[in-house]
Amino acid sequence: MSHSIIFDTDPGVDDAQAIAIALRHPEIELLGMTTTYGNVDIETATHNALLLSELAERDIPVAQGAAGPMVKPRHPAPAHIHGANGLGNIELPGVKGVKDPRSAAQFIVDTVNERPGEVTLVAVGPVGNLAAALQLDPDLTGKVRQVVIMGGSIREGGNVTPVAEANMFNDPHAAQRVLTADWPLTLVGLDVTHRCVLSQAHMARIEAGQGALGKVLAGSYAFYRDFYREFLGIDGCCPHDSCALAWLLRPDLFTTAPGHLTVVTEGMAEGQTIFAPEGRGFIVDRWSQTPLVEVCLEVDGDAVVEWIADTLG
Ligand code: BDR
Ligand code: CA
Repeated sequence: MSHSIIFDTDPGVDDAQAIAIALRHPEIELLGMTTTYGNVDIETATHNALLLSELAERDIPVAQGAAGPMVKPRHPAPAHIHGANGLGNIELPGVKGVKDPRSAAQFIVDTVNERPGEVTLVAVGPVGNLAAALQLDPDLTGKVRQVVIMGGSIREGGNVTPVAEANMFNDPHAAQRVLTADWPLTLVGLDVTHRCVLSQAHMARIEAGQGALGKVLAGSYAFYRDFYREFLGIDGCCPHDSCALAWLLRPDLFTTAPGHLTVVTEGMAEGQTIFAPEGRGFIVDRWSQTPLVEVCLEVDGDAVVEWIADTLG
């Protein structure tokens, strides 16, 4: 089955790998990329999306979006993880292409309305662009084919706070709107992305298979790998954002559960995703009043990283 997608992203080392998959996979029609601040500032995110598309010799619309969170102040970009340029501080060529004149939210609304029922939104950064698109066109919920979000955590705990995953923490107010909208949503969170570790051997295959794009992916991976080794004691990297596409293309590798999501927007637990399984009673029903969505709980991590290396190798 093929998928026509808009890829919403803050590239970012793991975003870059996922973009490469979106550009290369024969069953993905990449309709456009929309950019957000997050791993980098918004101008850098847009630059990197245009650059990666050019390195793959593709001409994909790139529409620029959120420069910061909806409500809270923006946290500094994590340059120690992704590099100040988002791609591991390697030297990068300039870009020739220009961004789409529309905002990311407008691009999403226009594209979905041109092809109602056909477009899947895959978001792998803070989700302000999806929240803004819902604000522009509340009926979008009934017109998308699917929404896949890399973010959150059900049982795994957080990565930037004890309870919050980075994309949810960076804009919890947007996340609350997007994760509680009545659309067919799947959350691909740390419960599964932490089970996937992409090794240097996988990356060598990707570098060999991707020409100029492969050089950038491998160079940026080396920087990201140093972070994983130093801070987490892992030899390899979690390809968080590629897991969203792995879920879309290879759902057979994942175990999911239906239920209701809420995002904590204030206080010590801001950015935490709370999951109430379908049908489970609690002391009051406040956690079970949002629309039913699907969350990923388990994965065959080895098979996912093989799939990534096969796709790009
Ligand atoms: C998410 O945060 C970002 O740093 C990554 O690109 C990924 O989208 C993982 O928590
Ligand atoms: Ca990302």
